[in-house]
Amino acid sequence: MCGITACAGPARENVVDTLLDDLRNLEYRGYDSSGIATPGEDTVSVVKREGEIEELAKTLDVVKPSGSVGIGHTRWSTHGAPSDANAHPHTDCDDRVAVVHNGIIENYTALREELTERGHTFTSDTDTEVVPHLVSEHLADGRSVETAFRAALDRLDGRFAVAMVVAGSDAIYAARNGSPLVVGVDDGRRFVASDVPSFLEHTADVIFLEDGDVVRITADDHEVTAIDGSSVDRSVTAVDWQPEDAERHGFDHYMLKEIHEQPAALERAIRGRVTPDGDVDLEAFPPGCFSDVDDVQIVACGTSYHAALYARQLLAERGVPTQVFSAGEYATTPAPVSEHTLVIAVTQSGETADTLASIRLASERGARTLAVTNVVGSTAARVCDDAVFIRAGPEIGVAATKTFSSQVAVLTLLRERLAEDITGQRGADRERVLRALERLPGDVQQVLDQSSVESLAARYRDRDGHFFIGRGVAFPVALEGALKFKEITYEHAEGFAAGELKHGPLALVTPDTPVFAVFAGQYDDKTLNNVEEVVSRGAPVVGVGSEESTDVAATVDEFLPIPDTHPVAAGVLANVQLQLVSYHVADLLGRSIDKPRNLAKSVTVE
Ligand code: F6R
Repeated sequence: MCGITACAGPARENVVDTLLDDLRNLEYRGYDSSGIATPGEDTVSVVKREGEIEELAKTLDVVKPSGSVGIGHTRWSTHGAPSDANAHPHTDCDDRVAVVHNGIIENYTALREELTERGHTFTSDTDTEVVPHLVSEHLADGRSVETAFRAALDRLDGRFAVAMVVAGSDAIYAARNGSPLVVGVDDGRRFVASDVPSFLEHTADVIFLEDGDVVRITADDHEVTAIDGSSVDRSVTAVDWQPEDAERHGFDHYMLKEIHEQPAALERAIRGRVTPDGDVDLEAFPPGCFSDVDDVQIVACGTSYHAALYARQLLAERGVPTQVFSAGEYATTPAPVSEHTLVIAVTQSGETADTLASIRLASERGARTLAVTNVVGSTAARVCDDAVFIRAGPEIGVAATKTFSSQVAVLTLLRERLAEDITGQRGADRERVLRALERLPGDVQQVLDQSSVESLAARYRDRDGHFFIGRGVAFPVALEGALKFKEITYEHAEGFAAGELKHGPLALVTPDTPVFAVFAGQYDDKTLNNVEEVVSRGAPVVGVGSEESTDVAATVDEFLPIPDTHPVAAGVLANVQLQLVSYHVADLLGRSIDKPRNLAKSVTVE
């Protein structure tokens, strides 16, 4: 959802190539237009283009702007269609101030009217453009750049992050109010970006800004203050992501690379969290720390919502009262909570606006909150009372893959701690669950090594619809399989609880609607009955299940085997097979796999 990048380098350095590379690293946040601005003595020079970042690169090759400081932006449009004019950066009437922005300025219509009355003219349909105009008015009143920036920020309502350069200044100003912004600290260079992978190849020393922070960077210095100018103390954290984690390493797509990273990601998710004597060791959560919890609510969106549904099945099996909510709904119609309710936010990025709104609401209403996230320093990690990290490493592909597996692994461990604290009992199969988790990285590797879904993908790439069914933990896997399929193939796909099929969706089943049936070793005989129902309507069936399920293999048209294991782990393995099916169908159809149309990673608007 819009990526901001900014770099202040040494006096004679030209940062344009750095800005472009840093933008490429953020392209997963938006890809309908992009641009950069570098300040000169009297005006800022802006180059921006509709389309993917390579369109901007071609123009930069011709225009050849230069500057030792600059800002850049890749856009996922909210206000104003994708176009050269709506691309960021935006400037004031005199081209002295240039601003990039992520988020929504809610009062921009009123501000624009007010500024228009005072003679300002606007060249775009965006909410962003009011910002450079406000700053330029304050500069004209004789204020310093910094106080003009603060005065402009003071007028903005909404949730946003902005970065600004001004002609004649070698400083970059940026502010965070609800949308993510981080500062990178290198020797003789400073960066600002929406997300760490933007500048990770230069530095892993990061300051995670908080809402209300204003930062001023130059090549050698940075200063973080509150919006009123008072100083705030923000320490530098060394993130443990490696620059190569954010590269493609010979894979055609980040998504395929990230599918193949799952064994290593799972290894990290579990490492040190299962003790040799079979106990769960979740760092900050010693035995008993959840004993005052009566019930659990989980809020999440998209793929993380499916991981949350998976966790609900697991918690229900251990007798923990659990509800799962789509965060967008919870943020408007929250469920009742008490001080004994634990509200868990499952969010890869830790920045999803709906999820953040839900946990803020839950906190205000007195619940205890816990983030399960991939990003140390993310807003969710800071807003919640506690956080558990899934340690999946950076995920660049817009379609979430490895983070789903890691979320499920960590939620499974968390389930054991919660269930024991809340019910006072250990689950009878706990040891088998933990052993299955320890085996999971190797089992995923086996699926990756042995999977051969390309020919299957060719047969199912062009059908009327694609249905995914499952029950127990296989139900959220069916939902996730369908989500992945629709988001990267652009073909129609829906997931259903297997038992629900006969209550309506069966009307859609025809010989041209393949059904993917997921078997996780729970209630497989019932799901097989549902498979018989679709078989008798002529639909081809692809079964995903244990390599030892001879009855499933004998009933379905095509069979995608997974190693035989505990259901807790079987769902993850089945999901890997479905990720590969979606990937190969999308590849055959020539889709933009890492940047599916209309989507962006990290959705920071509600
Ligand atoms: C789907 C996908 C999205 C995200 C959703 C939540 O492949 O990536 O559905 O899962 O936007 O994002 P996070 O987990 O960052 O809160």
